[in-house]
Amino acid sequence: MAEKETKKAEDSLSKEYKITDLPGVGPIIAAKLEAAGMTDLMSIAVLTPSDLSHVSDLSENIARKAIIAARKMLNLAFQDASEFEKKRQAILCITTGSKNLDNLLGGRGVETKAITEAYGAFGSGKTQLAHALAVNVQLPKERGGAEGKAVYIDTEGTFRPERIRQMSEGIGADPALALKNVFVARAFNSDHQILLLDKVGELIRNGEPIRIVIIDSLTAHFRAEFAGRGMLADRQQKINRYLHNLMRMAEQFNLAVYVTNQVMADPAMMFGDPTRAIGGHIVGHASTYRIYLRKSKKDSRVAKLIDSPNLPENETVFFVTKGGLVDNEPKE
Ligand code: GTP
Ligand code: MG
Repeated sequence: MAEKETKKAEDSLSKEYKITDLPGVGPIIAAKLEAAGMTDLMSIAVLTPSDLSHVSDLSENIARKAIIAARKMLNLAFQDASEFEKKRQAILCITTGSKNLDNLLGGRGVETKAITEAYGAFGSGKTQLAHALAVNVQLPKERGGAEGKAVYIDTEGTFRPERIRQMSEGIGADPALALKNVFVARAFNSDHQILLLDKVGELIRNGEPIRIVIIDSLTAHFRAEFAGRGMLADRQQKINRYLHNLMRMAEQFNLAVYVTNQVMADPAMMFGDPTRAIGGHIVGHASTYRIYLRKSKKDSRVAKLIDSPNLPENETVFFVTKGGLVDNEPKE
């Protein structure tokens, strides 16, 4: 059954149109887009006209037409509305542990077939949320889980088994079992990080019910290896391609993807929060849900939903505790 679904997903992917099928996009424009890491219709369909115009030198008007055409062509991949509905019904959700944060993300936490990105400064809670999701994905569906296992790609050496233990105790689960259900790999550089995704596919084909892939941090290696202004385009292209592979995987195997992203100070910004996500625009567009985390009063964390296509831009508060993420200030 699962095999059949996978096969079907692969078939529909192979029937894709090419970007040169879009109005206004000839080989020269296509090459420019390719250089920016945009090699398929999906990558065009998610852009705004001004962004597409910026990377391709198309006028905004033509860019808009190309985007609309890309969206239409992608829709052709759906047989009909009932097929589409069936796809939506297959989506599973994973609770973050905090009702507030779940609600911010649309009600039930992190979704499968989507990428959720958390960005924020040092200590803002990105890695804590990663641990919570690795535990909560194991919960039964009626308790907000996906009855599955987690893959945790750790690029910074900050994965802590004892946090998995504590958080599984927090939800009343067996810590030894919870630890067994998290596959952890340390990625030593960006190539290794990319390679590890193939291994995830292997695990799934071997029958492991992986429902979430966590990458903490998505950008750290790319940032270190592609330092300096001159390498920005290369870095962006690599991150972009990686994100597209993640999206494909999320869609094909019905799993959630959670990635963390560092922030850097933006000296040009005088007011507001002087932090920007590494990877800028492109990471922003590829993720389906994007939350900005920051520390606030009394050790609370504030999460803000940014750029969501279907949810209001909102803010909420949660706390990190020994047993996981919660809504209310802990009395520890
Ligand atoms: P960087 O990776 O450095 O960018 O930060 P991050 O956003 O990943 O931060 P992380 O999620 O690691 O948050 C660390 C913070 O979580 C700590 O400073 C603590 O405030 C909090 N924290 C971690 N473990 C515990 C715990 O067991 N109990 C409580 N109450 N808080 C914890
Ligand atoms: Mg971290």
